[in-house]
Amino acid sequence: MIKVKSAEEIELIRRACGVVSEVIKQLKVYVRTGISTKQLDELAKKLLRELGATSAFKGYRGYPANICTSVNEQVVHGIPGSRRLKEGDIISIDVGAKLKGYFGDAACTWPVGRISQKADKLLSVGRGALAAGIAQACEGNHLLDISSHIQSYVESSGCSVVRKFVGHGIGSQMHEEPEIPNFGKAGLGPLLKAGMVLAIEPMVNEGTFEVEILKDKWTAVTKDRKLSAHFEHTVCVTKDKPEVLTAWE
Ligand code: CO
Repeated sequence: MIKVKSAEEIELIRRACGVVSEVIKQLKVYVRTGISTKQLDELAKKLLRELGATSAFKGYRGYPANICTSVNEQVVHGIPGSRRLKEGDIISIDVGAKLKGYFGDAACTWPVGRISQKADKLLSVGRGALAAGIAQACEGNHLLDISSHIQSYVESSGCSVVRKFVGHGIGSQMHEEPEIPNFGKAGLGPLLKAGMVLAIEPMVNEGTFEVEILKDKWTAVTKDRKLSAHFEHTVCVTKDKPEVLTAWE
């Protein structure tokens, strides 16, 4: 069952999402050669605190940091540490905030300085895939319309889409029903209704869609160690156009 939220609940989720947008916007400025992923994590912790929120990730199933920082072949759930960014890297930063009992969740992948043409293309395919998915989050559509549009956008661009991780409903829990796969057949799945809040998050790979988990038990990397990009927004289904709650641009 996908919960339809009340206007009051949506306003609270909107506020949590506003925190996520603000943190992402500020972190983006620090993405440059020489900064360590741990420094980004500390900055995120401070920003979340200043905004009256806490990290939705820290302590979640034992996750040890405030944000996820996934560099290059890392797909998602990279743990911030001493690694320093270098020219040509791409980094996905995933931020989840908890504010007054409600959650917001978003991620974006950025270039570090000048990047290769293929990295640049991957970022544009990832960004486009998220937009293609969001455009389907309308009342009256089926859940897997989102999935299917993401998949066809990615595959027609010559990239692959990760199967192992999915998007999710979100609200008073970070992970609520439904799971939102980034692949599937249009017309399947439950009907979408105004008031459903969804975190849509395609992970797009340059090579194979297969992933492995590193020995730290969190970091997902591509099996072929080629590049991966991750984009996520929390979105509210309305009777009209979907409302992107975590927009920062
Ligand atoms: Co998420």
